[in-house]
Amino acid sequence: MLQFEKINTVLVIGGGVMGPGIALSYARGGYTVRLADISETALETSKRAIEGHLETMAEVGEIETEGKAQISERVSYLADIKKAAEGVGFIAEAITERKDAKKALYEHLDTFLPEEAIIASNTSFLNIFELMPARRQPYAVISHWYDPPHIIPLVEVVRGPETEECVMAITAQMLERCKKVALRMEKFTPGFFVNLVQKALGDVANYLVDNDFCTPEQFDVAIKSSVYPRGVVLGYFQKADFSGIHTYGTVVMENGAEDAAKTLMGHYHRGEYGVRAGKGFFDYTGRDIDGIFKERDRRLYEVMKIAMENINNKL
Ligand SMILES: NC(=O)c1ccc[n+]([C@@H]2O[C@H](COP(=O)([O-])OP(=O)(O)OC[C@H]3O[C@@H](n4cnc5c(N)ncnc54)[C@H](O)[C@@H]3O)[C@@H](O)[C@H]2O)c1
Repeated sequence: MLQFEKINTVLVIGGGVMGPGIALSYARGGYTVRLADISETALETSKRAIEGHLETMAEVGEIETEGKAQISERVSYLADIKKAAEGVGFIAEAITERKDAKKALYEHLDTFLPEEAIIASNTSFLNIFELMPARRQPYAVISHWYDPPHIIPLVEVVRGPETEECVMAITAQMLERCKKVALRMEKFTPGFFVNLVQKALGDVANYLVDNDFCTPEQFDVAIKSSVYPRGVVLGYFQKADFSGIHTYGTVVMENGAEDAAKTLMGHYHRGEYGVRAGKGFFDYTGRDIDGIFKERDRRLYEVMKIAMENINNKL
């Protein structure tokens, strides 16, 4: 029987852009981590990357300087995947985003992994459940990290058609132990949640630049001085509550797009226009409405100050 408490070692497979940060996050969470890659060069680069990340973490006060060695010692680097997998109950797969490579790896792992080992793939868009051997399906899950994985809190945890509930729960619990925000998705869709948002934004960005509406620099300044920092405080749906769902609903109707915004239009038709109405996507009943707006403004000033520092002081 799979149990969260019994998993102490994590095998991360793939030491490219994502693997080292994922390995570091589990090591920070107290896990013993083995990082495996078929390329010796990738293993060397991964070690250097992890040591570099630890330096920065200590510099910015994320960890105590004395804690660096302790975290670093929890990670070992191996080219022999079978050896690296000995006694491991949780595998974080972060190899090349290619169907054939992932399928071959899962088939190889299937020849020696214990039956109940969880395989958590970091795939960005692939339906890995179609690539897993049938008997691995109950223990297959996607745990999708964002770059840089040792810094960005969100990790999406995506269920496959046969994934056991305990696999979803353990994967999320392990991430929470690493201080990550685990967002459960109960069914697979390519791109999951945030990659779909990024794709929509990317499509607009590419369209605007390709057709000479703006330069890449103008686009980046525009979003960094508006929707990105505002989103830190309000997200998307709460922003609608603050700005007024009566306006959002009107725009949707003007565009004849009601079928594409059913939840929003439900609030609109019920007169749930947002904060000022006491209810919108969220419930503000009985709250001090002026006070909520004041608090929103206070937090926006705080975040915008950091945003403007970044805009005026480019990387
Ligand atoms: N780069 C990103 O921003 C990002 C973000 C989220 C998710 N992802 C996903 O994470 C995964 C890894 O992405 P990446 O950008 O780190 O890739 P990468 O190309 O930088 O690194 C992949 C690593 O996997 C190794 N590898 C390939 N086949 C292997 C095998 N059979 N066994 C062991 N190691 C093997 C390669 O040697 C390489 O070091 C992909 O599925 C990708 O879609 C990437």
